[in-house]
Amino acid sequence: MHLSSIAALFSVLFLAILFSPIVVGTAIPGCLGDRDKDDRPRLNCTAAGFRQLPTGIEPTTKVLLFPRNFFTEMSWMSFTVFTEIYEIDLSENQIPALSPSGASPLPSLGVLRLGLNQLQTVPDHCFSGTPALTELHLQNNLISSLHDQSFSGLSKLEILDLSNNHIQTLPPLMMHPLTAIETLYLEGNKLKVVPDDWFSQKEYVPYLYLSDNPWACSCSLGYLRRYMDDYDLNVYVRDGPIIRVDAESVICDSPVSLQGQSVIKLEESDFCGSHPSGPEPMEVATRPRPTTSPTHSFAPDVNQSYNEFVTFYKSNIDNFAHFNATKFGNINNFSHYDTANFGNVDNFAHFKSN
Ligand SMILES: *[C@@H]1O[C@H](CO)[C@@H](O)[C@H](O)[C@H]1NC(C)=O
Ligand SMILES: *[C@@H]1O[C@H](CO)[C@@H](O)[C@H](O)[C@H]1NC(C)=O
Ligand SMILES: *[C@@H]1O[C@H](CO)[C@@H](O)[C@H](O)[C@H]1NC(C)=O
Ligand SMILES: *[C@@H]1O[C@H](CO)[C@@H](O)[C@H](O)[C@H]1NC(C)=O
Repeated sequence: MHLSSIAALFSVLFLAILFSPIVVGTAIPGCLGDRDKDDRPRLNCTAAGFRQLPTGIEPTTKVLLFPRNFFTEMSWMSFTVFTEIYEIDLSENQIPALSPSGASPLPSLGVLRLGLNQLQTVPDHCFSGTPALTELHLQNNLISSLHDQSFSGLSKLEILDLSNNHIQTLPPLMMHPLTAIETLYLEGNKLKVVPDDWFSQKEYVPYLYLSDNPWACSCSLGYLRRYMDDYDLNVYVRDGPIIRVDAESVICDSPVSLQGQSVIKLEESDFCGSHPSGPEPMEVATRPRPTTSPTHSFAPDVNQSYNEFVTFYKSNIDNFAHFNATKFGNINNFSHYDTANFGNVDNFAHFKSN
């Protein structure tokens, strides 16, 4: 081979290596090592064909992203080597079941993403080994049953996404451990009723998503109807990253006579106690509906408004332009609060000036 063609071959090889899509900086082929927005060491192995955690990952890694791989189990044990693990993303894998995490605790885990797997249930005490979770994403699975203790120990959990599953009934005590819950996604399930006093442990859920369920508008829906009287401004729908208040998104599927009607637009007496020979209407049924704006108001309670703002800010950081400030009152009042809540302070400043 001619010398110059060998040189040309080498320069082609050199360029190929230089512009190879396999990024250097990690020993794991198919993975990219970098840092997340809070400067945590991260390994991103999106769609890299793994069936389990590869060996050789730096134990100081705090964020492990394995979406769109071929995991068939969630092995808590395999993550225990990462003693400072903060986030695990196993979305879009093939995990059929979860086992309780207690025997292999991950005490620093804050975010767990298991959407788009094949989970059918969430066993009691499943997350007892991960008490620091603030976000748990279980959407788009096949979950049909939950239990009173499915989320036991998650007293720091702020975001629980159970949307687009097959959930038919809500266990009466399921919310009790979730004393910090800010956002609960339940849309796209098979729910007919909310058990009486379901939200009672925390007075209300600031962001509640209930649309696209076959709500049964009979007396047993009375609790939800009364709850919505007080907290209709906390019932939301979302379209991608855009969210908006929409209490009318809770729609009766039965009985046929009420099908398609928004629960919030009905009096409780419309679906309960209207029988002439039936039981006395409940006291609340005779309560007049507010005709003007709902009694539940955000502006006077700065702390409530602030907490909601923080939740909103965290989950909508990329979409801040769509933020409607009205319900949060005077945002400048928030300046004396902990600004550490606002990761990207530039966005916050930009928002304030709007
Ligand atoms: C991880 O890498 C994929 C490409 O492999 C990219 O699309 C994705 O945005 C990355 N995730 C993060 C959180 O940077
Ligand atoms: C609101 O929160 C601040 C900061 O945590 C606290 O100092 C203040 O007492 C709270 N106010 C009310 C009315 O709860
Ligand atoms: C913002 O919210 C307030 C109160 O909920 C509402 O009156 C107003 O129309 C909203 N503005 C926009 C632009 O959606
Ligand atoms: C919030 O700001 C408004 C308008 O500046 C003011 O009237 C109100 O007293 C403030 N509330 C608190 C709790 O600081």
